[in-house]
Amino acid sequence: MSKEYWIGDVNSGSHDDSKVELKGWVYRARGSNKIWFMVLRDSTGTVQCVIKRDVVGDECFESLSNALIESSVIIAGTVNPTDREHGHEIQVSSGEVVGPVNPDRPFPITESAMTESDGGETEFLLDHRHLYLRTGRMTTMLKLRSTVFGAIHSYFRDRDFIEYQAPNFVAGAVEGGSTLFEVPYFGRKAYLTQSWQLYAEAAMPALERLYTMAPSFRAEKSRTRRHLTEFWHAEMEIAWASNSEVMEHGEGVVRHIARKLLDERSEELTSLERDLDLVARYADSQYPRIRYDEAIEILQGKGVEVEWGQDLDYSKEKILTADFEVPHFLTHYPRVAKPFYHRPDPDDPKYVLCHDLLAPEGYGEIIGGGERTWSEKEILERIEEEKAPMEAYEFYVDVRRYGGVPHGGFGLGVDRVCTWLAGAEHIREAIPFPRDSRRVTP
Ligand code: 4AD
Ligand code: MG
Repeated sequence: MSKEYWIGDVNSGSHDDSKVELKGWVYRARGSNKIWFMVLRDSTGTVQCVIKRDVVGDECFESLSNALIESSVIIAGTVNPTDREHGHEIQVSSGEVVGPVNPDRPFPITESAMTESDGGETEFLLDHRHLYLRTGRMTTMLKLRSTVFGAIHSYFRDRDFIEYQAPNFVAGAVEGGSTLFEVPYFGRKAYLTQSWQLYAEAAMPALERLYTMAPSFRAEKSRTRRHLTEFWHAEMEIAWASNSEVMEHGEGVVRHIARKLLDERSEELTSLERDLDLVARYADSQYPRIRYDEAIEILQGKGVEVEWGQDLDYSKEKILTADFEVPHFLTHYPRVAKPFYHRPDPDDPKYVLCHDLLAPEGYGEIIGGGERTWSEKEILERIEEEKAPMEAYEFYVDVRRYGGVPHGGFGLGVDRVCTWLAGAEHIREAIPFPRDSRRVTP
């Protein structure tokens, strides 16, 4: 049953003038009583198939010309190189419909359903997300996504990081209580994890360099262009490393992702109208580092009302990064703006040794990370300062009690990076089944 021929290979000329059997889905169709033009789609592309009544016979002609959009079909024929739009054409000799479409329920994702709405992202399309996945735009996005995931694995594995898994049911917050998902857990409360980090720190004395890619969960009530309630989180933790060394890896992995996309997916990027020069710039340049205080000055210089001590939300990051030509690190946030685990700067403990990496073009934060508070005394102070429930963090303090060492790490929002590098408007475009406060279906 497996496939021998792929439409992508037909279009690249590998089968010119030979007989092939193509398996796929009807993408578009039109014609007359004598000749039928069926554009066939598979995961690698589309190709026009020419079906003539006098060649295939009445029965086959009727069956193929009645196949509705998204019916699955098998076609046999000869590959004909042409100078037409599609480059290649199949002269069909025979064919059959494998899985028909019920005429009472035609495929609902039509060109007009996609263009009527803003970027094709109406509730209607979200309700039919399972079918929307088959559209060219979404298929392309899924391919880019796969390359991004592969690039993250190769970056870390090539540098001897060990892939390590943490639990998703946890007892405490990592990134503050306001976005915790609570789940009933056999008469107790548990939470869905916001980050792998605390459990990665527990393994840091064992592995020293570790990473993961896993879902993280945040009960984000507001629906924005860059927030999901379930997102894919690439995180790393490294022993004996400073904030600056952690940033080198953040820059390294993002540049590596951009490079891989250019090498492996430039056609797909172009089909999404992404400017390849921009992606090349992100792959090749160095990412400047500025302190939080400088960012506040830049914002105030632009007339934005912002107070020292606030974490920067999307509206501020959007303005700040609109003029950036490359990603920028923002370092040294005020201690009051960040969670308890960040290490206060020994030179000025009003600040913490942390960083956010902000993507240009108004996209904003894609990475958050830094050095961890690593002495027992300091972590106990910080937990106390945040009034966090000690019970959930006993294990975390133990990591410091038994041979604590300086260490750090970061978390990268994979869906955000896909959104940005693909030049998409909304994070929903970059994940197959987006989850937000209003939607867990389909
Ligand atoms: O900045 P955050 O909250 O940092 C952490 O979770 C750290 N514990 C990570 C670490 O040091 N290991 O989240 C990290 C990144 C953000 O920069 C953003 O890219 C992404 O995760 N992110 C989200 N992406 C989509 N939807 C959301 N609701 C997100 N929240 C965070
Ligand atoms: Mg953050």
